Amino acid sequence: MSTEENKKLVFKPKIIGFLCNWCSYAGADLAGVSRVQYSPNIRIIRVMCSGRVDPIFIAEAFLRKIDGVLVLGCHLGDCHYISGNYETELKMDMLNKLLKLVNFSDRFRLDWVSASEGNRFGQIVNDFNQHICELGPSPIKKKELKEEYVENFNAIISTLSDSRLRILVAREREIINVGNAYNEIIPKEEYEEILDDAIYNEFIRQKIIQTISRSGKSVPEISKEIQIKPNLVLKHIVTLRQRGLVDLDKINEEIPTFISIKEGK
Ligand code: FES
Repeated sequence: MSTEENKKLVFKPKIIGFLCNWCSYAGADLAGVSRVQYSPNIRIIRVMCSGRVDPIFIAEAFLRKIDGVLVLGCHLGDCHYISGNYETELKMDMLNKLLKLVNFSDRFRLDWVSASEGNRFGQIVNDFNQHICELGPSPIKKKELKEEYVENFNAIISTLSDSRLRILVAREREIINVGNAYNEIIPKEEYEEILDDAIYNEFIRQKIIQTISRSGKSVPEISKEIQIKPNLVLKHIVTLRQRGLVDLDKINEEIPTFISIKEGK
């Protein structure tokens, strides 16, 4: 047996489960009372509603080398706060799109468990635990990949903090069902496309900021580092300069370099 296979066999993943108080936590409680066997690798965090789980919490958990994250809430339509879990779905969808960009979406799962579903709770935890065991430890634990993942997750956290994106996500249900300020209803597919674009572009901008946070770099250098075409890098640099987040560093033999402006500077 290879060392890698051996490591997988002895691997005990660290999994965090965010459970809403009124359904999923009660389901976990029922699993305990009913003596349903489930993996002890999960550490449970009780929240009042799954809608309380900010996607940033999950990105932070991955940054801290957690191997997998589960978010469990009441079934759709059963949320104690009426629409909390519908909002959870939208927020977690945004997170998933970002996790896909860094090949981490397999390590995250959103599901619904009611207070009477002790067996279902045990099943979900065991399935997820098995899945994470098969994936192996989080790649952020590998020395040679750590820096790349830390930069990626910092960019994800900054993207998730962007107020424009948060508003876009928060207003999705209203805009596709009721309409915007001009009473226009935007079809879901069209809205999703707008959202996908906004999420991807913001992530790239945050990656650019990460890349030039320590020293100034030219557009070709940034382009090489983050593997994005130079014309697109330049387009994002212009946006970031307009937002006051990036400035001209110096001009070397007619080639300008750019540097990020630290907050509070
Ligand atoms: S109270 Fe359970 S998801 Fe809102």
